[in-house]
Amino acid sequence: MDKACDRALQDQNFRQFKMGNELNHFRFKLAAIEGIPTPFYYYDMNLLNLTLDEIQRQISGYPFKVHYALKANCNHHILNTIARSGLSGDLVSGGEMKAALAAGFKAQSLNYAGVGKTDWEIMLGLEHGIGCFNVESVPEMQIIDLLAGEMGKTAPIAIRVNPDIDAHTHKYITTGTAENKFGINIDELEQVIDQALSLPHTRLRGLHFHIGSQILQMRPFELLCDTVNRLLDHYEQRGINFEFINVGGGLGIDYSSPDEHPIADFKQYFDTFKQHLHLRQGQELHFELGRAIVGACGSLISRVTFVKEKRNKKFVILDAGMNDLIRPALYDAYHKVQNLTSQEQTTDTYDVVGPICESSDLFAQDCELPLTRRGDLIAIRTAGAYGESMASTYNMRPLPQSIFSTEI
Ligand code: LLP
Repeated sequence: MDKACDRALQDQNFRQFKMGNELNHFRFKLAAIEGIPTPFYYYDMNLLNLTLDEIQRQISGYPFKVHYALKANCNHHILNTIARSGLSGDLVSGGEMKAALAAGFKAQSLNYAGVGKTDWEIMLGLEHGIGCFNVESVPEMQIIDLLAGEMGKTAPIAIRVNPDIDAHTHKYITTGTAENKFGINIDELEQVIDQALSLPHTRLRGLHFHIGSQILQMRPFELLCDTVNRLLDHYEQRGINFEFINVGGGLGIDYSSPDEHPIADFKQYFDTFKQHLHLRQGQELHFELGRAIVGACGSLISRVTFVKEKRNKKFVILDAGMNDLIRPALYDAYHKVQNLTSQEQTTDTYDVVGPICESSDLFAQDCELPLTRRGDLIAIRTAGAYGESMASTYNMRPLPQSIFSTEI
């Protein structure tokens, strides 16, 4: 597809979205959501579908396969929509495996990652015939082989390689540097591959990488491509061919301007791999994207319980807390906060907080909002990824409900 046509299509997507702009959408459906008990996650399914279409458009014609990283959001309705769009799934637990299968993902299209797979989880994967175990250590590889043998099966595996690339993102979500727990370091890879090839009930299908999350610069992905190219050259010389290379996930999204950039820059992302990674004949390139697929379509909707004034500060106290959305407390993450119902023209500056007895139960500091009162509805935007999936019942609070734009 030529560039002008590409851009026009992108603009078209953008206009479609702006017409149904999420805030207008809320206003339009305000009557419908106003009666719903808060807090709840609201999902704009139109945006999710536009995002899925954009992915298909960018990968079409290339031997690329996108796995949706279920950890970002395991809501059944979301999973179902993603499975229907034709994406594969990327799992990190037996629970996610069950959720993926129940939502309609095909077992053979699933891959299963994680440093600590337990026996029952491995056996569940073998029983269902999942596409690949991404193995992270030699002991894990040996146990998978043993269990496969006992079950009369052959386990398909990929070896997770730690490429020692700094993704320049939050330290808790950087996963590809040599000192963290993930993957096999490159200097040990040769030996591990030899071992994998010698196992009787194991089929080595590919190499797997993942360097981190919320990555907005393409440079770390280019460096990853260089590493992959070097490894492919080396193993080709040894006569070892991999069916696929899996470069993981990590594409970031725009938390600051969710309406200006509702869809992640998939074009730039996939172009980086199209240009820099030299696949071999018949080889596939796999991706595991989570945040970029579901992040923008979700908002946490909450109601103002009180506005509290102290001498130097005003607090908007919400009925949502860090148990509903832990990202600000855990990673100091920014989420845009909007007042959906205030009709005021003047603004004020507030700290927007939850009801939980922890100082980190803070959604936004010094946040400018239209004058806000008890009862106003607040949207915490771009909360579709690692929001609902990381929610807890801390303080014995119930888990947040989910509402879909298509159902109200
Ligand atoms: N593949 C592997 C092996 C991963 O560890 C992850 C995420 C992904 C794929 C998907 O990455 P994504 O495309 O979503 O960046 N809770 C944190 C994010 C943790 C990400 C962990 N691994 C947050 O809220 O920012």
